[in-house]
Amino acid sequence: SAAEKGGYDYFMLKEIAEQPKAVADTLLGRIDGAGRLTLDEVRIPDAVLRAADKIVIIACGTAFHAGLIAKYAIEHWTRIPCEVELASEFRYRDPILGQRTLVIAISQSGETMDTLMALRHAREQGAKVLAVCNTNGSTIPRESDAVLYTHAGPEVAVASTKAFLTQLVACYLLALYLGQVRGTKWGDEIHAVVRELARIGDEVERVLETMEPVRALARSLAHKDTVLFLGRHVGYPVALEGALKLKELAYMHAEGFAAGELKHGPIALIEEDLPVVVVVPSPRGRSVLHDKIVSNIQEIRARGARTIVIAEEGDEAVVPYADHLVRIPATPTLLQPLVSTVPLQVFACELATARGNEVDQPRNLAKSVTVE
Ligand code: AGP
Repeated sequence: SAAEKGGYDYFMLKEIAEQPKAVADTLLGRIDGAGRLTLDEVRIPDAVLRAADKIVIIACGTAFHAGLIAKYAIEHWTRIPCEVELASEFRYRDPILGQRTLVIAISQSGETMDTLMALRHAREQGAKVLAVCNTNGSTIPRESDAVLYTHAGPEVAVASTKAFLTQLVACYLLALYLGQVRGTKWGDEIHAVVRELARIGDEVERVLETMEPVRALARSLAHKDTVLFLGRHVGYPVALEGALKLKELAYMHAEGFAAGELKHGPIALIEEDLPVVVVVPSPRGRSVLHDKIVSNIQEIRARGARTIVIAEEGDEAVVPYADHLVRIPATPTLLQPLVSTVPLQVFACELATARGNEVDQPRNLAKSVTVE
């Protein structure tokens, strides 16, 4: 009913709008006044966390994309090697697991059969499994050694939005916590990130307030067949997520690429007026990557692409090559997905609406996939 949707036309719109609160709720009570992580619910002994020599993330769909982003944070802050694998592939390739492997199973519903079967396999091999889940008491957390709940609240729309942002937050918290338990050399950086995390809900809110041009752009592209998405570093999984949202909601051909791969094949797809969304890394810090992606934007635009550029406020280098420029607040590099994903959600939702699709219940899809 309209009341359930809080005055929004679709649950998805409501859930996109709820993201600042979902992010804040997921942080609530997990960082103390001194900026230390207090993840009491991670009931895996510190000794086990210190001894872990490998982390394996298993998940499907949007949760898999959250895992891909988490890998950057986990490896950077903990120096523990981290793999991310589609849950549906995992147990069929005889993965190397042992008592020092920490498996993180990410699932909004906690009922995804592929993820459940993968976690059972991991536990049979002696690995410890930590669930990152949004649904209290669901099967995946019940069968895991510990659970870190995301506090997104119920997500009704089939397309995952607020759950994704909170999965990222939970994974960052976990990465920082592991760094804390193991004593990382990134102390100062961790404090800065913790401070930024506390503000990120407000940044998401600011992004949400500036989405009208993105909606107008989406409507103008409703007749298109294909949209490509490019990103680098943590922007690469964001590109994958932008493409997945467009597939499931707009039923359009959409693909995400690592921008560095363009010249290894995908650039052949570029043709006159093809919309290409580019997620630009921060110009600060990792500026090498920034320069490289600016060159990519130039290259594809020279071949006629219609460039839709998502870039930090103050990033002037992209301006000459952006047919459409979407501004996001400056954040530490690893946190950028929390703000850069939001315009892609809005874009897909509006395109779906413009194409007359069922936003909350896309064809052929179910909210949780309880069969393998
Ligand atoms: C996301 O928009 C999808 N509907 C889908 O990919 C989903 O993320 C995936 O099925 C995993 O679901 P889960 O998080 O409930 O395990």
